[in-house]
Parts: sequence; structure tokens; C-alpha cells
Amino acid sequence: MAKDLAKRKREHLQLCLTDKVAFRKKTSGFELYDFIHNAATPVSVVKISLKTKFFGFTSSLPFMISCMTGGTDETNNINRKLAVAASQLSIPLGLGSMRYALNTDEHDHIFHDIRSLAPDVPLIGNIGIAQITKREGFEKLLKISEEIKMNAIAVHFNPLQELFQKHGEPEWARLDEGFAEFVKYIKIPVIAKEVGSGISDGTAAMLLKLGASAIDSAGAGGTSWSGVEFLRSKRKDEETEIFWDWGLPSSYCIKALGKLKKKKNFLLIGSGGINDALIAAKAIALGADFAATARTALIALDKEGPDGVVSMFEKWGSILKKIMYLTGAQTFPEFRNKKLIRYEKYY
Ligand SMILES: Cc1cc2nc3c(=O)[nH]c(=O)nc-3n(C[C@H](O)[C@H](O)[C@H](O)COP(=O)(O)O)c2cc1C
Repeated sequence: MAKDLAKRKREHLQLCLTDKVAFRKKTSGFELYDFIHNAATPVSVVKISLKTKFFGFTSSLPFMISCMTGGTDETNNINRKLAVAASQLSIPLGLGSMRYALNTDEHDHIFHDIRSLAPDVPLIGNIGIAQITKREGFEKLLKISEEIKMNAIAVHFNPLQELFQKHGEPEWARLDEGFAEFVKYIKIPVIAKEVGSGISDGTAAMLLKLGASAIDSAGAGGTSWSGVEFLRSKRKDEETEIFWDWGLPSSYCIKALGKLKKKKNFLLIGSGGINDALIAAKAIALGADFAATARTALIALDKEGPDGVVSMFEKWGSILKKIMYLTGAQTFPEFRNKKLIRYEKYY
């Protein structure tokens, strides 16, 4: 079992360090938008503040590291290094799925290590809806959450991946009851999260009603988790053609959920294919409170360690300020007000 987990995690990592796992034809859709230039900008660049609230914590930037992996020496080290980067940046950090730690105490020290490396930033736990519907490990999650003062926990909804992963668990009986029960039990904010196929406004409204405090849209156009599983199983047929690119484009999800935010109070994390500063800025202008990235942060970490992740996000912040200046947005609410235009409207 431990051997299988290590093999799976290693394969995930190795594949995610290549572009083979990207969507093939479908895009995130951010390339369809441009920023509207303001020749008479009233903005003072030095007075732009990128600080953003994450459940009471003030993040220095509107960026986050998405939940990634854990449970083996190699993947735990990645989480440790990401904790160093998040701490230096003072931004929230998502941890990988904690499923491997539910039935044993042997991994608990990892979570304590991560907290001591990142003592002052929000740590976001992670578990699958499959475990939640089976009421698996609630007590253990609460125990770790209290011990390391976890600030929130993400529940991942990944039906596409479960459908194609060997031994996947794609059936979630009475997920509404299980999810609502978990939200009450765990006592910290719960983030409902996809992993690359996106969350529609209808699904988000349902999950918010059940008690979610945040939605991480994780739309299509970045990492394809069906693609990862097809590569692992070396599968190539009609189904791989159809389902590799399955899902709601990232820009579409953020725009739809941005509209929902006008009616409901929740934190919107925009993710899925947030691969550079321009895309991150567009995600925020479309309505996200935070733009989050997984694979791009992993690649930066692999190339240059925690310093690489720090300098990547710092550059994104500096570019975001310049874009805000050029669009005449002093603040985020101004930046979210009609600063984008679809390219076809130009011509
Ligand atoms: C190596 C790796 C491991 C991941 N592990 C998890 C996980 O344990 N739990 C989870 O919710 N998402 C996991 N994800 C999914 C990401 O959080 C994210 O939703 C997805 O990859 C889309 O974002 P991206 O296009 O920026 O990669 C993982 C992503 C990567 C690249």
C-alpha cells in the first residue's frame, strides 16, 4: 500500500513537471481578454496595496499556492519547501491531500514541521469529498487542524480524475449531507475546490448553501488530471480524446462566480492554468479574490527552490501593480470594475 502510494505520487510529480499534462485543445480562455488601457490614469503606483484578506489574515499578495501532494519523503519535502516560500512571501499555502495521514499517526510530524516552517501564514488542509462522504477520518482531521492551528481546509471535488484513476472512488453517496456534516464538525472555514475541471455558479451556490466559506474554481486550461491518469495508464483511445480536455474554462468559472459574489458572501479563489502574471491579473480583474497556482509553483520550486517561488510571486505582484496603474485602478474593487475587454470587440 505504502509502495503503491509512493509510486503514484512519484509518477504524478514527474508528469506534472512536464507540459505533457496540460490541456490539449481547450484553453483557460484568459487569452480572449485584454486590459482596457487608460491614457489618463489617476493612479499612484506607490500607493497601490496588494494586501488581501484571507479569513482574517492579511496576505501580502492576492496569490496563493494551491494544494499539492504529500505522504512520501519526496512530496513532504516539497511541502516543506513551499512552506518556506509561503512564509517568506506571507501568503496562504495549500497542503496536499491528507488522506494518507487519516489512519496512522506516523505522518503527523510533517504537519507540525510545516507549521514551524510557516508559523504565521494561513495553512489550508486538504481532503477529498470521497473521504468526507464515507465519514473517514473526521476526528483525525480535527486533531491535526487544532494541533497546527490550520486556518481552513479544502475539500476537493475531482469526479473526472476519480473516474479514470486506477482504484478511483467516483461515487459519493449523499454528498450534500456528508459535506454539511463535515463543515459543522471541523469548525474552520471549508473551501470547496475542483482540481482542473471547474466549478459552475450553480454548483458553487449549492456548496455555499451547505456551508462552504470559499470556492476554489480550479477550472480547465491548466493541468489536466484526466491527462495525468491517462499518461500513467498509457491509455490512448476515443475516451482519452474526449475527456483529456473536459471541464469549464478557468476564465468562465471566475467570471460566473465573480457574479455570484455580488449576491453571496464568500471568498473566491481563481485557479486552473494561472501560469503567469498577466493571467493572474486577469483572474483578479474577472472577480477572484486570490489567484492560485499549483503546477507553475511546482516548476519554479523544482528549478530554483523556495527562492524561485518567492521571486516568481514577487514579480507577479510588481506586474499586477503596473497593470492596475495602466487600467486606472487604485484598488481591487476598481480593478474588478470593467477593466477587461474581449479581443473581438476591438476589431
Ligand atoms: C503535483 C500536484 C499534486 C496535486 N495534489 C493535489 C491534492 O493533493 N489535492 C488537491 O485538492 N489538489 C491537488 N492538485 C491539484 C491542484 O491543486 C490544482 O487544482 C490543479 O493542478 C489545477 O491548477 P494548475 O493548473 O495551476 O496546476 C495537485 C496538483 C499538482 C500539480
